[in-house]
Amino acid sequence: MSRPIAIIGGTGPAGTGLALRWARAGETIIIGSRDAARAQGAAETIRQRVGANAGVSGLENSAACAASDLLMLTVPFAGQAELLKQLKNAIRAGSILIDATVPLAASVGGRASRTLGVWQGSAAQQTAELVPKGVSVVAAFHNVSADVLSSDDDVDCDVIVCSDDPRATEVAMELAAKIPRVRAIDGGKLENARIVEQITALLIGLNIRHKGHGGVRITGLPPSAYHGGPAS
Ligand SMILES: NC(=O)c1ccc[n+]([C@@H]2O[C@H](COP(=O)([O-])OP(=O)(O)OC[C@H]3O[C@@H](n4cnc5c(N)ncnc54)[C@H](OP(=O)(O)O)[C@@H]3O)[C@@H](O)[C@H]2O)c1
Repeated sequence: MSRPIAIIGGTGPAGTGLALRWARAGETIIIGSRDAARAQGAAETIRQRVGANAGVSGLENSAACAASDLLMLTVPFAGQAELLKQLKNAIRAGSILIDATVPLAASVGGRASRTLGVWQGSAAQQTAELVPKGVSVVAAFHNVSADVLSSDDDVDCDVIVCSDDPRATEVAMELAAKIPRVRAIDGGKLENARIVEQITALLIGLNIRHKGHGGVRITGLPPSAYHGGPAS
């Protein structure tokens, strides 16, 4: 894939973890932040881990949107709607926006193992309401631990990808399959993001209880359902 991936809110653990994995896979990454200097700092940290030739740069969020039509959104739910409203004019027509936002109660001071109700059904559906017309929203990467992404270990997790645009689903599945051992699975329509987002809260609870970094694996589907990973 030749176009850059702009990670909006890419300075946090989820964004930098994905950036690290995709930079290692040879992708060009733009880290987005509300603060350009913070974005550049995060990009430099990733370059130090991947190598000087890694194509990782940092920009303020709206400049990052303007620089690519493939966007990854990794911000806390509490800031998601406001940020998307601010970025509306910067997001290019025809863009694909992959949303990993989980509506965790922690984003408004509650528990990380609980979720908030979202009027639209899910954080991803809220995003779909807020982006400019013609932008395809995909929900993906909710269940992958940022701690694991940021490590040097293979990622023992499937990525369930939901979107109403099959072309966008395919792009997100290709990106997921670039992460070692991740298998991407087409999870159907964007409305299914509601269920995938909830699984993250369960995983956080399990990880607290058992002191681990658990992910999800979907078993029993035909091989053609799995994209990437050792078992595909
Ligand atoms: N952490 C995980 O393991 C994980 C796994 C799967 C999905 N997720 C989801 O991915 C998203 C990001 O997770 P994270 O742990 O990386 O979150 P985070 O560290 O809390 O936030 C990520 C970045 O978002 C920006 N940000 C924070 N508050 C904001 C606001 N009010 N408005 C605009 N930007 C804001 C910050 O970047 P700047 O200050 O540089 O702008 C921050 O570095 C969350 O929705 C989370 O539920 C996380």
